Amino acid sequence: MTATKGLEGIVAATSSISSINDGVLAYRGINIDELAENASYEETAYLLWYGKLPTKSQLLTLQDQLSEYAAVPQPLLDQMKLYPKDANTMSVLRTTVSALALYDDSVNDNSRESNQKKSIKLQSQIPTLIAAYARIREGKEPIAPLKGVSIAHNFLYMLSGEEPDEVAVSALDQALVLHADHELNASTFSARVTIATLSDIYSGVTSAIGTLKGPLHGGANEAVSQMLSEIGTLDQTESYIQAKLNNKEKIMGFGHRVYKNGDPRAKHLQKMSYELSLLKGNSTLYDISIKVEEIVTGQKGLKPNVDFYSASVYTQLGIPRDLFTPIFAISRLSGWTAHILEQLDDNRIIRPRADYTGLNNQHYIPIELR
Ligand code: ACO
Repeated sequence: MTATKGLEGIVAATSSISSINDGVLAYRGINIDELAENASYEETAYLLWYGKLPTKSQLLTLQDQLSEYAAVPQPLLDQMKLYPKDANTMSVLRTTVSALALYDDSVNDNSRESNQKKSIKLQSQIPTLIAAYARIREGKEPIAPLKGVSIAHNFLYMLSGEEPDEVAVSALDQALVLHADHELNASTFSARVTIATLSDIYSGVTSAIGTLKGPLHGGANEAVSQMLSEIGTLDQTESYIQAKLNNKEKIMGFGHRVYKNGDPRAKHLQKMSYELSLLKGNSTLYDISIKVEEIVTGQKGLKPNVDFYSASVYTQLGIPRDLFTPIFAISRLSGWTAHILEQLDDNRIIRPRADYTGLNNQHYIPIELR
């Protein structure tokens, strides 16, 4: 038994949800480029859950369900008021999603029908939870979700209480499409491992949120934003990045386990970042990002991943930095739950082996002799 560090190259499941072949990412066989240009996030979530794009009436039904389920139990909002105001937002999300299970009588019903309904519920409740905490920590009351608007629109509305502008809604919607699923990424794998024990969908999603939080995975978008603000100006970029590279530090937002020739999602986010900088009439963040890419790709051959340009996109949309990874969770929720449903359709507990490297033939030593 020989272990492969980080399970690199190990095929650990069969899946018909998304694929990465020759650097091309597809959801249910549809190239992500086509979806990014044409699909709404709601259509994308439907595609991931049901395996095909919705008809008009199927989409309307889904939108109605999302609207119907978006409110969260009041006791949960009351509890959030007791949380520290400077709590980590991913920890808040992990805790509140776990707590949602306490208010759902069907938590232990693992039938496809019940889990499908819970997936839609979680998809509409997670944005409500994130927006509520963002307001509560500022001493403001949470804003109730609107009915009949998209997830992107509702989320931006619930943050500020004002109607968001169309450019912001469409940029966020496209970012959600791009982050929705990604084969057997770390957080999705966590979700599948958890549900494979026949636990429940809330446990699966809670595991996934905990995994997404780390800076080597979803947390990288916040780390990129931190880095861009530390750099501050274009003329500081070279010395800042060079010092990090000389120090053998990782540059967040670069590299990928699977893509060695570039992440196909990054170009869409780069374009979005550029367009937002034109609209804002301020290209500092975009220019710094391009310079960082030039240096890191030039010296290390590493290309930007999905997290790199999403940082400047969300910053330009005026979203607080510590909501970037929770936004990733809003989007990846459809992927996580599609994988949970798929895992349960043909389940076997996931239980690999370890290559033991410790001592053998040891004996118990009484405590007074140690
Ligand atoms: N900056 C500098 N060097 C890097 C970077 C980076 N961002 N990424 C990889 N390298 C180097 C490593 O130091 C290593 O060099 P070595 O062989 O000299 O030791 C080599 O490239 C291979 O890197 P690994 O870390 O072994 O690659 P792995 O496949 O294990 O990790 C990962 C992939 C986690 C994405 C890594 O590239 C990384 O840490 N990137 C920065 C964090 C990040 O952006 N994460 C988001 C990924 S996308 C997502 O999850 C949504």
